[in-house]
Amino acid sequence: MWESASYSLTDRAGNIRASERLAPEPIMTQQPAYLMTDPAHFDVAYTINPWMRPEVWTADSAAHRRAALSGSQALRIALEDSGARVHTVPAQPGLPDLVFPANAAIVLDGRALAARFRHPERQGEEPHFIRALEVLKDQGVLKEVVQIEGCFQEGAGDSHWDAARGIFWVGSGPRSSARSAEVIADHFGRPVAHLPLATDQFYHLDTCFCPLSGGEILYYPPALTPEARARLTERVAPDLLIEAEAEDAAAFCVNAVSLGRTVIMANPPERLRGRLAERGYTVLGVDLSAFMLSGGGAFCMTLRLDWQSAPAVTLNQPSLESACS
Ligand code: ARG
Repeated sequence: MWESASYSLTDRAGNIRASERLAPEPIMTQQPAYLMTDPAHFDVAYTINPWMRPEVWTADSAAHRRAALSGSQALRIALEDSGARVHTVPAQPGLPDLVFPANAAIVLDGRALAARFRHPERQGEEPHFIRALEVLKDQGVLKEVVQIEGCFQEGAGDSHWDAARGIFWVGSGPRSSARSAEVIADHFGRPVAHLPLATDQFYHLDTCFCPLSGGEILYYPPALTPEARARLTERVAPDLLIEAEAEDAAAFCVNAVSLGRTVIMANPPERLRGRLAERGYTVLGVDLSAFMLSGGGAFCMTLRLDWQSAPAVTLNQPSLESACS
C-alpha cells in the first residue's frame, strides 16, 4: 500500500495553518506510459488561443513543419530515454491540434474520461481520440473509455493528477466548464481542487501549473484567480510552491512533463533549470518552437496513461524530507 506522511505547514510566523499528506515518491515498478500523436498533419491554421500565429506558420510552413517533426521526435526520445513507453495516435488531415493528446482525456486507474472540446475547430478530434483510447483498451493498456457528459472538459490539459497528494487539480474558464470539477470528482471518486483560471493567455491549467513528483508545484501565479491561489496555498506548503516567472511561462516551460526526478519541457531559461536542479530535478529541454506557435509545449503533447490512485508497490522510498527539501 502507498504510505503517506503527515506534513505540517507553517506560515512565516511559524503558526501551523494547514496540514497536508504527501505520498513519498514511489520507485516505479510499472513502466510509465504516454500517448503522443503522429505530427504529420500538424499546422497552425486557425486562432483559438492568443499564442496561435497562422501567419507566422504560413510565412515558412516548410521550415516549421520540419521543426515540428524533429521537436515531436525529440520529445518522444526524451520520454523513452527517461524510461517511458510511448503509444501513438495516427495523424488525421484537417485536425492540426490532434498533436495535443493531453486534451483527449483524463486517465486514472486505467479509466479514461474522454474530452468534450469547447471550440468547433477541435470537436472533430473527439472521435479520433476515442478510437485511439479504445485501441489502448483492446491492448489492455486501459480498462474503460467513456466520454464526459454535460460540460466542456479538455482532458488532462485542465485536470492535472497530483500523484504526491492523490488529488486532481482542475482548471476552468477559457476552455473547461466550472461544472467539470464536480463531474470529475464524481466520476473518479477522488478529491478535486478547483482552480478557476484568470486569463485567456493561460487558457488551460497545464500552461500555468505543474505538480512535480516530489510534491512541489511549479506555477505561474498571475494565471490563477485569487480564489484559485487561496485554494493552492491552503493545500500546499510555501516551500513546495515554485513560482515561475513570466519568461518561463511564455517559453511554455510550466507546460512540463514530470517523470520521477526528470522534468521534460520546451527549452528552458537557464535560471529555471537552475532552480529545479537545486531541488534535485534534472531538466531535459526540447526544441518545441513549432508547437509553441499553436500555444502548446511538452505536457500538452503527451497524455499519461498509467496514473494510479494508489500505486500497488513502493520500494525503497526516500524520506519525505529529502524528497521535498
Ligand atoms: N492550439 C491548441 C488549442 O488551442 C493548443 C492546445 C494545447 N494544449 C494544452 N493542453 N495546453 O487548443
